[in-house]
Amino acid sequence: QLKAVIFDLDGVITDTAEYHFIAWKQLAEELGITFDRTFNEQLKGVSRMESLERILALGGQTERYTAAEKEALAHKKNEHYKQLIARMTPNDLLPGILDLLRELKRENVKIGLASASKNAFTVIERLQIGEYFDTIVDAAKIKHSKPHPEIFLTAAKQLQVDPSACVGVEDAQAGVAAIQAANMFAIGVGDKEALKEADYIVETTAELTYDAIVRAFYRE
Ligand code: BG6
Ligand code: MG
Repeated sequence: QLKAVIFDLDGVITDTAEYHFIAWKQLAEELGITFDRTFNEQLKGVSRMESLERILALGGQTERYTAAEKEALAHKKNEHYKQLIARMTPNDLLPGILDLLRELKRENVKIGLASASKNAFTVIERLQIGEYFDTIVDAAKIKHSKPHPEIFLTAAKQLQVDPSACVGVEDAQAGVAAIQAANMFAIGVGDKEALKEADYIVETTAELTYDAIVRAFYRE
């Protein structure tokens, strides 16, 4: 029985996946490393430091910086990202998300947030949707990056719901893998090819209605 829906944030509830991309791309270019959207798929859902490591590895620069320098680079990216999210408003919710949150509440389905972002609380506040969430996992307390299931399992535990009664919603390959490793039903939002491992895929959040989720979940 469906008891909870656990959402990723960036790229699912709002288009901050694009802001992460813009901020990383700018930093990477300053370091002489270029990457495209295909490579960027591998950064989605991945923590700040791990994303930096992947970008440095792409540029063959893994050994070039000390730990302190890497911290400074990650900080620089985050300052840029914070500038980008500072102007967000409730208008930046992706299509259909607010209706979905309302409907889940009406149907007594619990709502959780499992974002790897340390900026998640700020973004939720800017979007003014904090009241809908029964739990928000604190990314700072999570040890293992997605695709490890830790963050989704933590959300389920905080909601006191068995993982098998949870649906996870993700735009990232690593996120879909994390949901499945947690033994939850994985819904992918975005490119059908990139997210082909998901149990159910929608191209945009507009298709993400309560009815669609219920139908997909019980078909399994
Ligand atoms: C994830 C994003 O939600 O959070 C990643 O998909 C990002 O792109 C990660 O790197 C960590 O975010 P932050 O805000 O803590 O740097
Ligand atoms: Mg995401």
